[in-house]
Amino acid sequence: MLKGKHIILGITGGIAAYKSVYLLRLLIKAGAEVQVIITPSGKEFITPVTLSALSGKPVVSEFFSANTGEWHSHVDLGLWADAMVIAPATASSIAKMAHGVADNMLITTYLSAKAPVFIAPAMDLDMFAHPTTQNNIELLKSYGNHIIEPTSGELASHLVGKGRMAEPESIVEKLTAFFATGKDLQGKKMLITAGPTYEKIDPVRFIGNYSSGKMGYALAEEAARRGAQVTLVSGPVAIKAKHPAIKVIDVESAKQMYDKCVNIFPDVDIAIMCAAVADYAPEKQSDVKIKREKDDIPVIKLVKNPDIAASLGKMKTEGQILVGFALETNNEETNAQDKMQRKNLDAIVLNSLNDSGAGFGTDTNKVTIFFADGNKKMYDMKSKAEVAKDIIDAII
Ligand code: C5P
Repeated sequence: MLKGKHIILGITGGIAAYKSVYLLRLLIKAGAEVQVIITPSGKEFITPVTLSALSGKPVVSEFFSANTGEWHSHVDLGLWADAMVIAPATASSIAKMAHGVADNMLITTYLSAKAPVFIAPAMDLDMFAHPTTQNNIELLKSYGNHIIEPTSGELASHLVGKGRMAEPESIVEKLTAFFATGKDLQGKKMLITAGPTYEKIDPVRFIGNYSSGKMGYALAEEAARRGAQVTLVSGPVAIKAKHPAIKVIDVESAKQMYDKCVNIFPDVDIAIMCAAVADYAPEKQSDVKIKREKDDIPVIKLVKNPDIAASLGKMKTEGQILVGFALETNNEETNAQDKMQRKNLDAIVLNSLNDSGAGFGTDTNKVTIFFADGNKKMYDMKSKAEVAKDIIDAII
């Protein structure tokens, strides 16, 4: 699974850096091409000569090569990588990654990387348990990074507790598993809706909602990473799709989203309706800005928007899978089940506004998935990237 993969091995300044030599050997043995980036303090623990001899490449540490003045491009390195592994990751480097303190080559490369990032923390037990470190780790998780948990045992300080870097074998196993689950949607076509819709009132005003599009975009990234060809019909959002297998179609209103979806749906295997579609739109849209009247308060008459999910539910043919979302504030389970039936969905993902950290705008979500066959699966609060993985796993 790692054969031919481009891997950046980031080494920071911790005692566990000696284990990274073995990790590097294992990666090379597995057929990966490895570029080591070591932080200045990492070099206090382990010498670049060993690392370059094993990787067969000069080790990068500084922005410039002191002898030649050659610039090391963190952007090029970030784009070259299929995965980035930071092992050991010290409390300080974790904090820098979490907050964008790009004062060395490794952190600048981390910020430029589009590939998945695996972080193996290693530090003393109290540093690891400190709320600062824990909060930084949570932040990194919420950005979609993969944390390889440290283990418990005797630490360099001779204290015993959680903080030992995961063993190199176990880090390689995690990477292998990640690339192995990579392509289970190969050849599948998917339609995903995301974001809010804007229902125009006049040239400067609209009716909208707080949806950020983060959940739908995370689903699109995960599906594309696993080999699907994804069409993402997106309402107005401030985020961008990264994976080249995602084709984004930008729309504004529910009607525009509906038109695109009914066209695309017959050609796809799986559709996930993640958009927060406005239920109503103004009956008439004024061509000019509605003026403030002295006495009269304008009345905006609303009409029903088409229900995209329900329409696709009617069009659905044998073998197609249609998944919806439900964001509820009360009677969550009953409402979600009812929606699944009414719209002829195969599964519905419930997120409750009663769970803080779940729903609109957040980087995390807590969901329960109900299936048409009566089964249900409940999940913990996770980053939207991890929730996307759970949803795709459930669909598969
Ligand atoms: O009925 P409700 O809006 O709560 O249903 C939510 C589900 O239906 C979501 O999957 C949402 O994307 C979809 N939906 C839709 N078109 C609408 C309203 C909701 O596709 N007009």
